Amino acid sequence: MAVLAGDGIGPEVVAEARKAAEAAGARFGFGLDWVDYDLGADRYLRTGEVLPDAVLAELGEVDAILLGAVGRPDVPPGVLERGLLLRLRFELDLYVNLRPVKLYPGVSSPLADVKPDDIDLLVVRENTEGVYVGAGGTVHRGGPAEAATETSIETRAGVERCLRFAAAKARQRAGRLTLVHKTNVLVHAGDLWQRAARAVATETGVALDYAHADAACLYLVSDPGRFDVIVTDNLFGDILTDLGAAIAGGLGTAASANLNPDSSPSLFEPVHGSAPDIAGTGRANPVAAVLSASLLLDHLGEPEAAAALEAGAVAALPGAAGYSTQALGDRIATAVAGGGSPD
Ligand code: IPM
Ligand code: MN
Repeated sequence: MAVLAGDGIGPEVVAEARKAAEAAGARFGFGLDWVDYDLGADRYLRTGEVLPDAVLAELGEVDAILLGAVGRPDVPPGVLERGLLLRLRFELDLYVNLRPVKLYPGVSSPLADVKPDDIDLLVVRENTEGVYVGAGGTVHRGGPAEAATETSIETRAGVERCLRFAAAKARQRAGRLTLVHKTNVLVHAGDLWQRAARAVATETGVALDYAHADAACLYLVSDPGRFDVIVTDNLFGDILTDLGAAIAGGLGTAASANLNPDSSPSLFEPVHGSAPDIAGTGRANPVAAVLSASLLLDHLGEPEAAAALEAGAVAALPGAAGYSTQALGDRIATAVAGGGSPD
């Protein structure tokens, strides 16, 4: 396991996720080897390095990567996001960003009258294409004729593999797949997604539904229960999953898996960022990191351990705000180890 604890609250929450995973290993009879990698703002400011090729090559050899958070106000925006996180997603071909949106008992949603059962969906975000590819440029910079382009690139193969993954997930759940795009405006890419989605739905037997991205935002707030598995492009997925985190009670419980389902390694990270404003205060919620470690264990073929991490995190949630990062991590690890409630 490569650990990229990163910046801000990253190291604090990753320490608790590790503790919980260790407790699961002890209970279910497996060991975990962790290798820490010094990457992020400190390394960049000290050496100018973001992700040296040799380190990237090493990361390509591990079973899985656990990442805390990257980014700090004293590093210009984009340097670490593009140079580290997006580079890992692209170079390791982590083409699925799997983001569960789940309201856990004891967590309050800003939506009125919703119960945990009403918010339980998966967002499958395409993770290697779209506007994230960085195709484009600026001409006549700073002058009156300045122009900038940011080209979104979608490929049939890229879209299709993502849809196949999403359809397989839907088949394990309620069997309902919703494509989210903006086919009424993005007629080229939207058409590609639409045709590919219909073909994959026919081939896999899942029920395919469609929502425009703007309408999907509305439905996530007005009727989140209509969704089972959402599949969508990179940028729509980025935006939708922050909204998803919000309706499920905030970033404290939002986990994600950047997957290459066909080969090792995949990368697991909480959706939240480095939160520099609360770094070092002990106030960061480690639950999203623990749930990300749960996705990691599941991906590595330890479903019981994964379920124990989720159950441990859920058991610790009521009143979580009253505990420090470490105290909450201890409660979770205790629940994972013993299989009981933390009290
Ligand atoms: C996310 C983040 C990243 C993204 C940033 C940090 C590059 O917002 O994982 O959702 O846009 O994908
Ligand atoms: Mn995001």
